Amino acid sequence: MAVLVLEESQRRKWDGADDLLFYAEPRFVHHLDASFRQRLSELYAEQIPPGAVVLDLMSSWVSHLPESGRYERVIGHGLNEKELAANPRLDSYWLQNLNLNQEIPLPDGSVDACLIVAGWQYLQYPEAVASELLRITRPGGQVIVAFSNRMFFTKAPLIWTDSSDQEHLDYVAQVLVAQGWSQPSLISETTKAPGVLGLLGQSGDPFFAVISRNDQAAMS
Ligand SMILES: C[S@@+](CC[C@H](N)C(=O)[O-])C[C@H]1O[C@@H](n2cnc3c(N)ncnc32)[C@H](O)[C@@H]1O
Repeated sequence: MAVLVLEESQRRKWDGADDLLFYAEPRFVHHLDASFRQRLSELYAEQIPPGAVVLDLMSSWVSHLPESGRYERVIGHGLNEKELAANPRLDSYWLQNLNLNQEIPLPDGSVDACLIVAGWQYLQYPEAVASELLRITRPGGQVIVAFSNRMFFTKAPLIWTDSSDQEHLDYVAQVLVAQGWSQPSLISETTKAPGVLGLLGQSGDPFFAVISRNDQAAMS
């Protein structure tokens, strides 16, 4: 049973229609700039051991895993079949609206690394999702939640639209810890804009990540 953190009013969003409708057409675009994506791939290279079973929750046609990364299996989840089918890193995938059903169809302790990129901001019931992620993660395994400062505004609950970048980090951490994840590491970094603009001093997408471990299970 998930430990609730949000008030019901904070789960509301401007567009209350089924999220499947919003994602019905594939979007073969990058939601994050090249500087953000490179930083994320570097983080994955540091954090995810070779041979890991990886879950890319709320995925699309890209998973941002480093080219050289070799994993036992990469499982994808999302809302658009065409995007997931085009993702070269996925060994399997399934479709599920997490705002309607938070039960993750994977066995207990079967995943080493759970990844969510630019997705947490759309969760209306993050507590139940975080609790399920803890259940399916092996002892010593981890969750990495990464995001920037952009969103589809009408699809994000008020808890996200009405708060700052630092508050987003604290909120993700609070929800994870409430479900039994370890005290997270928080990353908050600026990036340089890709290419010439970066050389001219322009910033890229800011990089935020929350990393937490399942060490509760390791102790039991
Ligand atoms: C901005 S995209 C990010 C996709 C991908 N992680 C990436 O880095 O390109 C947001 C993703 O969140 C997922 N998503 C949004 N709302 C969802 C919901 N209600 N249930 C499940 N997944 C959802 C979809 O898979 C969608 O592609």
